[in-house]
Amino acid sequence: MTDYSQTDIYTDISLVDDPWPYFEYLRERGPITPLPHRNVLAVTGFEEALAIYADPTSFSSVNSVTGPIPDLPFAAEGDDIRGQIADHRSQIPFGMEVSGLDAPLHAPMRSLLMPLFTPGRLKAMDAGFRHVAEGLIAQFPASGKVEFIRDYANPLATLIITELLGIPRQDRPIFRKYFAQGTAAEVGASADVIATNPLIEMGMRIAGYIAARRAEPQDDLLTQLALARFPDGSEPSLEQAARVASFLFGAGQDTTVKLLGNAFRLLCERQDLQGELRADSTHIPNFVEEMLRYEGSIRASHRLCQRTTEVCGYTIEAGTTVWIANLAVNRDPRRFVDPSTFDMDRPRLKEHLAFGRGSHTCAGAPLARAETRLSLELLLRRFADIRIDDRHHGAEGSREFRYENSYVLRGLSELHLIFGESARSV
Ligand code: HEM
Repeated sequence: MTDYSQTDIYTDISLVDDPWPYFEYLRERGPITPLPHRNVLAVTGFEEALAIYADPTSFSSVNSVTGPIPDLPFAAEGDDIRGQIADHRSQIPFGMEVSGLDAPLHAPMRSLLMPLFTPGRLKAMDAGFRHVAEGLIAQFPASGKVEFIRDYANPLATLIITELLGIPRQDRPIFRKYFAQGTAAEVGASADVIATNPLIEMGMRIAGYIAARRAEPQDDLLTQLALARFPDGSEPSLEQAARVASFLFGAGQDTTVKLLGNAFRLLCERQDLQGELRADSTHIPNFVEEMLRYEGSIRASHRLCQRTTEVCGYTIEAGTTVWIANLAVNRDPRRFVDPSTFDMDRPRLKEHLAFGRGSHTCAGAPLARAETRLSLELLLRRFADIRIDDRHHGAEGSREFRYENSYVLRGLSELHLIFGESARSV
């Protein structure tokens, strides 16, 4: 039995590949339980996570991406630190991104994004998204041997966001290069590395597009963003507009890549499910939803308690970091019957917290669902037999998989598959 009593989730890489026993250890200690380092409370209970997401007055999102690393640039004082957070926001990594903002700054920035993800907009983009996915599938080698993360999921996620925004085609390879490597919130990395925001360089490029669209509008989403107004009618600065656009890559890239990887690993390990979805593609949306609950791609999100408060009978003091373990929360047996079983027929499939909840709930969830469904639909229709490549992962029964070394993401760093027996063309 592993002794987890001194485990530091931010440095212990042994939790990366298999975090499940640790989550059960925490759950046994209660749905909210203190960790031994960095003044962090771990949340594994569904009801408790929901209560925290629903209370942005007490829980700031300023540390949502990086959690307690690096240290706050101030020493928390008293039962209400909202003023201190406001004074230091710009010094906190990712604190100025839409995911890190609190009221009253958050809603206006979020309002710039929401028109990008309406059902009508996504429907209009469907043919473009298919074209992107089919282009990647057409490049699969004749052997069918594909490193799925590198050769499909990663470029798909980048190219779909560039397609959505209308980034000029000739510039898209540059964006693919930005996301070909690198890990978010790497376990054990130095505070300087964690605090580095890769979106800044890309934001400068996007600011250039937006400035050009303001001068000469075109028929694309970058123009819509360039000309958007805040709800009070004021014009976003160039920096604000570029920041939300570039944040889409930060939020929508690795999350989608990892979900695709987790989904295809399961589909290959469960050939019965693969057969079921191939025989009847109307089950794909339920598969995606249950996948998000069963093994979504966000391992955890953070909050900073900014006002001492009580959550489900537990007092949380201002200055405490709250670590919401989304993976564990989605397997809370008090909420989900038989939570470790993958069951596409469970009731209320969409209740999971894989996309968070509340005012910061994932803005790109409709896009993430659309990309995952589309990939399943196209690949299952095109290939009659998709399997794990034993040469890389070992034979059935003794397989090995490496997961991305991140304390916020959950997903494979590599997934070697063999796409066989072309059924019909896409
Ligand atoms: C499977 C894929 C995805 C997962 C699991 C996921 C998960 C999440 C979660 C859990 C949050 C909330 C974080 C918090 O409350 O601290 C979030 C926020 C966000 N996500 Fe996603 N996401 C995914 C894909 C996407 C995509 C494709 C986009 C857009 C291209 C996107 C854009 C955003 C944005 C803009 C936010 C911040 C919203 C706000 O703070 O108001 N996400 N996502």
